[in-house]
Amino acid sequence: MTINYSEDIHIEKSETTNISNVDFNNLDFGRVFSDHMFVCDYKDGKWQTPKIVPFQPISLEPSAKIFHYGQSIFEGMKAYKDAEDNVFLFRPMDNVKRMNISAKRLAMPEIPEAYFMNGLEELLKVEKNWIPKADGSSFYIRPFMFATGEGFHASPADAYRFIIACAPSGPYFSGKVKVLIEEQYSRSANGGVGFAKAGGNYAGQFYPTQLAKEKGYQQVIWTDDNTHEYIEEAGAMNIFIRINDTLLTVPTSDRILDGITRKSILAIAEAEGIATEVRKIKVSELIEASENGSLKELFGAGTAAVISPISGFGFKDKDYELPVLENTYGTLLKKRITDIQTNQTSDPFNWRVKVC
Ligand code: PLP
Ligand code: COI
Repeated sequence: MTINYSEDIHIEKSETTNISNVDFNNLDFGRVFSDHMFVCDYKDGKWQTPKIVPFQPISLEPSAKIFHYGQSIFEGMKAYKDAEDNVFLFRPMDNVKRMNISAKRLAMPEIPEAYFMNGLEELLKVEKNWIPKADGSSFYIRPFMFATGEGFHASPADAYRFIIACAPSGPYFSGKVKVLIEEQYSRSANGGVGFAKAGGNYAGQFYPTQLAKEKGYQQVIWTDDNTHEYIEEAGAMNIFIRINDTLLTVPTSDRILDGITRKSILAIAEAEGIATEVRKIKVSELIEASENGSLKELFGAGTAAVISPISGFGFKDKDYELPVLENTYGTLLKKRITDIQTNQTSDPFNWRVKVC
């Protein structure tokens, strides 16, 4: 698939590059950044001329509303390089559309799709050498928008900045992931902003996750805010549960992010002949399945983590282990999705977009 957009972008190339200082074989997640970023300001009621500029700090007034009222949204995407150095994006329009769903909910201006897509494609052309090819590493793309408009009045800002920054990255998780099923805190509520990628959603997760870490877990499994009886998400990932040979996940809602990896996995699983079910899942059903041996796999799915197997979970001071299987759905589906993303297989779903 190719997408063609044209909007003028002002490009200011960096005179230096940091690329030779980066050890591409030992990358953390999101700790080193490529040489350039895409920037577009919104003021006087319209988006200004987009720019690609050297990666640099941002200077803001202390009264900028991002600092006070948290108008801040973001996306998470990746670029992939195949053996011939062709660069691809995966379902990028879904990210563009979701960014604008988030913008609307946070009373922020929507970014024109052409500005976003064209800006990203031009940025990737400039940063092509930064895109790693090695297995397990990726070129993580972080589009984000925040309120630059000033004032202490609790109302939407009149100015915003949209930036796309990129980080060649290693895996999001290293080692086994054990999760704690949350019974007290909530990540989102009906009518809230859980379905949006609002910065504040993540800030609200840090404290409960910190408490879980103190107990030896890496992530929290979020449950519904009303009863804490239903499973919702796994940290910043959608959750998948394999009971016997059926792959289950929960329906998206006001409270749950409509993950692009989640819907891709559902489509791939169906094409592979794996039975799938999208329905509400009670914590008690998970416990029962673990106790009667029908619980085979648990994994989180998201752009950053791809598919992250969960080795065990805690609930009410009791630990439950997942069985160690040889052939897991998680491994199979991860291979299928990354093969599509990196152009190692055909793309029957038409998800891959060639950039350069
Ligand atoms: N759920 C939350 C809360 C997330 O932050 C993410 C990450 O983007 C996901 C799920 C997975 O979404 P996607 O697959 O679109 O990256
Ligand atoms: C992603 O998976 O891209 C996300 O945005 C999650 C983030 C917390 C790393």
